[in-house]
Amino acid sequence: MNTASRTNTTAAISSITEANTFLQHAGIELPIICGAMYPCSNPELVAAASESGGIGIIQPIAMVYAHQHDFREGLQLIKSITDKPIGMNVIVEKSVSAYEERMKKWMDIALEEGIRFFVTALGNPQWVVDKAHAYGGIVYHNITTRKWAERALKAGVDGLICVNDNAGGHAGTLNAAQLFEETKDLGVPILCAGGIGDAQDMSTVLDMGYQGVQLGTRFIAAEECVAHSDYKDSIVNAEEKDIVLTDKISGVPCAIIETESVKKMGAKAGPIARMLLKGRKTKHWTRTYYAVLSLWKFKRSSRDGMGYKDYFQAGKSVGRIHGVETVAQIMSSFSNELNVKNVMENEVEGANHD
Ligand SMILES: Cc1cc2nc3c(=O)[nH]c(=O)nc-3n(C[C@H](O)[C@H](O)[C@H](O)COP(=O)(O)O)c2cc1C
Repeated sequence: MNTASRTNTTAAISSITEANTFLQHAGIELPIICGAMYPCSNPELVAAASESGGIGIIQPIAMVYAHQHDFREGLQLIKSITDKPIGMNVIVEKSVSAYEERMKKWMDIALEEGIRFFVTALGNPQWVVDKAHAYGGIVYHNITTRKWAERALKAGVDGLICVNDNAGGHAGTLNAAQLFEETKDLGVPILCAGGIGDAQDMSTVLDMGYQGVQLGTRFIAAEECVAHSDYKDSIVNAEEKDIVLTDKISGVPCAIIETESVKKMGAKAGPIARMLLKGRKTKHWTRTYYAVLSLWKFKRSSRDGMGYKDYFQAGKSVGRIHGVETVAQIMSSFSNELNVKNVMENEVEGANHD
């Protein structure tokens, strides 16, 4: 890169930072979140995402149950790899009080260890907002509809992450453009989650008006992710059409790769499970049962690879993921795209002034 374009690039990056509330909230350089993933968020992956200029989000259950770290020690391990900001995921679930108490304790530890960025999912994030704001922290909530966005805003969240119908894990039902239209007037930064496999995908949603992106699937196929190589290879080899929704594992629709064994077993829950999942009285306990079972099943698939029932959670971005790379390589292709984009925008702006 020559000196002139390097100067332009630096100017471009600082102009993004000034205009982008999300970057200021998170204290980072690139508008890219490595989303929380059970069981795939191992500490080394989280740390690498932050170290490369985005922000890695800790998934506490993955840290403790799947990767067997004491929560505080896991945080300290991440902090020994990077001194850049990291975030924590809080899945808000009131129905099991032991879970909520444990999550509150983990959040207290995270605050003590200096974490100030939180990504909440499901439920009412009020208690997370109260705790985070008391320390000057920031909370972004994952939403799939305007109704959930309004509820989260009432609880005081600082930003929204719109999870669309292309996402891995528990996908939404609306596409990225529809979700942006639904939420753009809500007065907080809006990020896009779902279907971002390469820099071009990011560019497309930034052009829609999103301030940043949250990626999951792309980072499973990263060197630093300790998921089994069968899981990574399945992502690299899959196409968009291979992603199917199953309610068989967690009781709610979840995007997975339709491997040969999923084809054999089928992706739909059986008739009795479906009835229990719908019943007014049985719904709650059936979901809790499924939630616990899914922790075990996903952990096993991710650790053992093919051979057992291969439930590999992934989203439709698989179509644009063609290799396993380091997090730094992935981030650098995104950052190059941002530089080109901003240099072009600056040039157009300059020409308009001439
Ligand atoms: C394997 C997997 C596990 C996930 N687990 C969680 C989780 O525990 N908490 C959460 O808030 N989101 C979770 N997500 C959603 C991601 O944080 C992110 O929003 C999503 O992956 C974005 O879609 P993409 O996979 O198309 O990039 C998970 C996604 C995947 C693929």
